Amino acid sequence: MRIRVMLAALLVVLAATADAKPIAGTASLSGAVQAPAAFQAAQVHLMNTDRNVLFMVWTRGGRYQALNLFPGRYEVTVKKAGLATDPQSIVLEPGDAKTLDFALREQAARPVRQGEFGFTSSVSSDVKLVSYDELYPREPGRDVLEKQCMYCHGRNFFPSKQYPEPTWNTFIDVMLGIGADRGAMIPSGTLSAADRQTVLAYLTKHFGTTSERRGLRMDAQFPLDEAALGKAMYVEYYLPLDKQLDAANKQRRTQEPHFDPQGNVWYTDRSVPNRIGRVDPRTGEVKDFMMPDPKADPHGLTVDKDGHVFWAETVGFHLGRLDPATGSMMRYPMDSTGQRKGRGHTPTLDSKQNVWFTVIGGDMLGKWDRQTGKSTVWKVPTAGAAPYGIAVDKDDNVWFAEFRRCRIGKFEPKTEKFTEYAALSQPCTIRRLGVDSAGIVWYGGFNNGKLGRIDPRSGAIKEYDIPMPFSEPYDVWPDRHDDIWISDGGQGGALIRFDQRKETFTYYPTPQTTDQPKLAITREGAIWYTPRSSVKAAVGVLYPDVTTMTTLAAYE
Ligand code: HEC
Repeated sequence: MRIRVMLAALLVVLAATADAKPIAGTASLSGAVQAPAAFQAAQVHLMNTDRNVLFMVWTRGGRYQALNLFPGRYEVTVKKAGLATDPQSIVLEPGDAKTLDFALREQAARPVRQGEFGFTSSVSSDVKLVSYDELYPREPGRDVLEKQCMYCHGRNFFPSKQYPEPTWNTFIDVMLGIGADRGAMIPSGTLSAADRQTVLAYLTKHFGTTSERRGLRMDAQFPLDEAALGKAMYVEYYLPLDKQLDAANKQRRTQEPHFDPQGNVWYTDRSVPNRIGRVDPRTGEVKDFMMPDPKADPHGLTVDKDGHVFWAETVGFHLGRLDPATGSMMRYPMDSTGQRKGRGHTPTLDSKQNVWFTVIGGDMLGKWDRQTGKSTVWKVPTAGAAPYGIAVDKDDNVWFAEFRRCRIGKFEPKTEKFTEYAALSQPCTIRRLGVDSAGIVWYGGFNNGKLGRIDPRSGAIKEYDIPMPFSEPYDVWPDRHDDIWISDGGQGGALIRFDQRKETFTYYPTPQTTDQPKLAITREGAIWYTPRSSVKAAVGVLYPDVTTMTTLAAYE
């Protein structure tokens, strides 16, 4: 018995280390990249213009290799700060293994942009970028702004506004819940009258009508591990813009990736009219389904074992359900008694295929029961918690992030008991969390760049500093080896692997400047994400080791 287990383990290891064959019907491209001076890990962008799909790899020792590419026409270019080259075109047929070399020339370096999270005022490339201290001079109001406002709004929000004093004053009222239908953003009793005056004066002085629109300059460069990056590949499937539907917005906004049993990847699209849709990663084919309410603002989604797609609506307090086979859609009230109202956020499934969901506005946790078809909600213990990300552990306990109150909550369905764990560094915002195979709960400190670890058995909590400045960890999710993957938009967009045994962080900067609100990881270890504040809406994936890929499909 013992030997059999060991043999099986050995076979798994062998299978994982042997190079997989190229995927049937694909092509590959490789080449040398030369430059006037030594460089590390240049990005090679291979844009398949026939299918509207981008492949991105890195150079290692001045060479790159891109495997498992769709056939078709490509525009290929190499990107590296301070260096430039002209794009080249190439056509790849199935089975092709072609080469294409590049020579980089020197070019004045452009400062790296910092990403923006969700608020519409993202930094455009023509905005002047300045250092943190220049943007936020060290005066008394800075501290108040950081503690009371920036932990939610990020670092690029205020410099994108040029408001007169009365406007800032009104918005502070709104944030305090005065005249706001969403309730208070700043918990009552936390902003003193004196601090309010100080922050108002600071905002008016530095982000007033005569101020210039600016963005934050990142002086630090991503740490680049060429050996790791040289094996990795990003793929982004861009969503088509519909001539009519997207005429006004000119943009789409993907939110959450999830896999169905057939290997497709589903997403919610929060641009109006709202859609949910799927990408077939084997072909790049995209199919959209119009939502019953075009302004219900779907946030998270999940897919059950029959392939039915469930999503949570932030407006109207409904859970939606789609049967992709028939295209039929249903909606369930999030509280079947009709007594409570709130703003739904993220759904997930337990082992019995019940749908659990967070309610960010209204501070609730909910369950749609598969047997009865009815939903129940429970108030979470802390008012103003704003329950956000959600995960179910092996024992069907439900874990959720208390976004505004810097805590992690646990709900035991059998006893209906809540337990809360306060993060070590207070105050903070926590967007999402994940549970690894050992039952350890991981969370990201969105405003303070911490990675947190809770051991539910002992209650011990540990926090790690994510090594880059201005880190904004959004989702944290384990892969099947229990490496923890972090999506970080604060630094302009990176997926980060945290090896919990070695306590090391490896950076994989994203092809576009963006945040990535949710991750989903396949059984082969491919990391799917949705770039949200990016210029081009997409469903994207990172293959950390392209040589072990056996499929483009995404299976849980
Ligand atoms: C808990 C998170 C949170 C905190 C803390 C917070 N905000 Fe907000 N703020 C929001 C959200 C969410 C919105 C969007 C409001 C909506 O859509 O109802 C918003 C909207 C705003 C807007 C209007 C956006 C626009 O389009 O111009 C301004 C201005 C603003 N906040 C300023 C502030 C200031 C100043 C502070 C601190 C004194 C602050 N906020 C604190 C979450 C927060």
